[in-house]
Amino acid sequence: MYTDGLSYDDVLLLPGYSDTLPKNCSIQTILCDGISLNAPIISAAMDTVTEEKLAIAIALEGGAGVIHRNLKPEEQARQVAGVKRYLNWVIDSPITVPENAHIRDVKELIEKYGVSGLPVIDNEGRLKGIITSRDLRFCRDDALPVIEVMTRDPVVVQGEPSVAEAREKFDKHRIEKLPIVDAQGRLTGLITVTDMEKNESHPHAAVDKSGRLIVGAAVSPQDYAARLPLLKDARVDFVVLDTAHGDSKNVMEAVKSIKKEFNIPVIGGNVASKEGTRRLIDAGADAVKVGIGPGSICTTRIVAGIGVPQFTAVLDCAEEAAKSNIPVIADGGIKFSGDITKAIGAGASVVMIGNLFAGLKEAPGREIIYDGRIFKEYRGMGSMGAIADGAGDRYQMGKDEDPVPEGIEGRVPYKGELSTYMNQLVSGLRKGMGYCGCHTIEELKKYRRFVKITAAGLRESHAHDITITQEAPNYSRA
Ligand code: XMP
Repeated sequence: MYTDGLSYDDVLLLPGYSDTLPKNCSIQTILCDGISLNAPIISAAMDTVTEEKLAIAIALEGGAGVIHRNLKPEEQARQVAGVKRYLNWVIDSPITVPENAHIRDVKELIEKYGVSGLPVIDNEGRLKGIITSRDLRFCRDDALPVIEVMTRDPVVVQGEPSVAEAREKFDKHRIEKLPIVDAQGRLTGLITVTDMEKNESHPHAAVDKSGRLIVGAAVSPQDYAARLPLLKDARVDFVVLDTAHGDSKNVMEAVKSIKKEFNIPVIGGNVASKEGTRRLIDAGADAVKVGIGPGSICTTRIVAGIGVPQFTAVLDCAEEAAKSNIPVIADGGIKFSGDITKAIGAGASVVMIGNLFAGLKEAPGREIIYDGRIFKEYRGMGSMGAIADGAGDRYQMGKDEDPVPEGIEGRVPYKGELSTYMNQLVSGLRKGMGYCGCHTIEELKKYRRFVKITAAGLRESHAHDITITQEAPNYSRA
């Protein structure tokens, strides 16, 4: 018994009547349980793709990175914390000065920490005032008590302010620092106008409700108990159960226990069938990651003889997940921006990308010069190299077993900075939405109108009967 399976290359979206332009299409999407992204793209949890730098760069462009787990738990959590700190929208442990201090103490603290002002608090942590370098400029006497020079009753904000709320306070009161207090008047954080401006220069950044960049981390059924306490402390937004066979008993149990013990959004995977999708959803997964063997570095289908062509896998799993309103992430096999449009057209909410990001400046892989051109290293997490560095459990391999790889090691062309490249990807997606007349990702997810093409159709789709003399930034047959 067999069924037909199609890959992205086997289909094209049917163009449809449009009353919109690509630039007007919204590419906002839901990743999982209350986490929304401004671009439907996340980067793969691979050791040549996503570490702190790439995770920052992609979140600034509206997507999110998933920090891989070929790192010690402490290092993975440190990188997550680095991403969360990057925009530093709210400083949650600001340097403060006690109300009985003197101006010389303030000057010392300002000098030591390189800050331009300090909240003044009493011994219960209640905010009494604020003292800034501006106040100090006109104060010559270092022995004066701080309470005589500080600004009393400064403008404050309560709870967890939104960016708009903070901006309004800065503009209205022309202040540079905005303390955050709780209902008892105790200082809980500080916002500075400089951090606010940094935030505003990335209007599409994917941020949490406190304005920090969104980031995820990979865990496995074997290591989640060690990683999660550290990741939660680092304020990770979501975790990905990073396994090659998500439709397994240990993955279902791990989903259940992560939800119960750690109460954090969990993406379960990978699966490629309706039944696997349903089991993950029933176990409590907040999103389901789909893809068995479509990745550019994967050899699972060849080594083990299993898998489902990715277009069919996404179509099937998304249909099942839609019944429970659970997002699907199409993981692997994205070769061009058009594949992103096809994956979402098949029902995915987000795509996960490895290969196309491995050549970016921010990716952690080594740079390789070959034949006068720059490349970057890219390897499967089931490759010999990645297994040697600890990734074997993704493929159910014990530490002392002889490695049987399910992935390869190679190189991809160097691509420059993520922000420029990401613009090519999301613009391609927007163009596709324009051709289909879809205003939003939700509309594209429900579009599901494709034509199956032949090998001749695919040949016709690609550039043909010409020697390319000038490569385009979004098209290469390398
Ligand atoms: P792309 O096509 O973007 O795919 O390179 C990235 C995805 O591939 C998966 N992955 C692997 N699959 N063997 C596999 O069968 C491997 O060694 C391997 N490494 C990564 C993973 O889901 C990733 O997001």
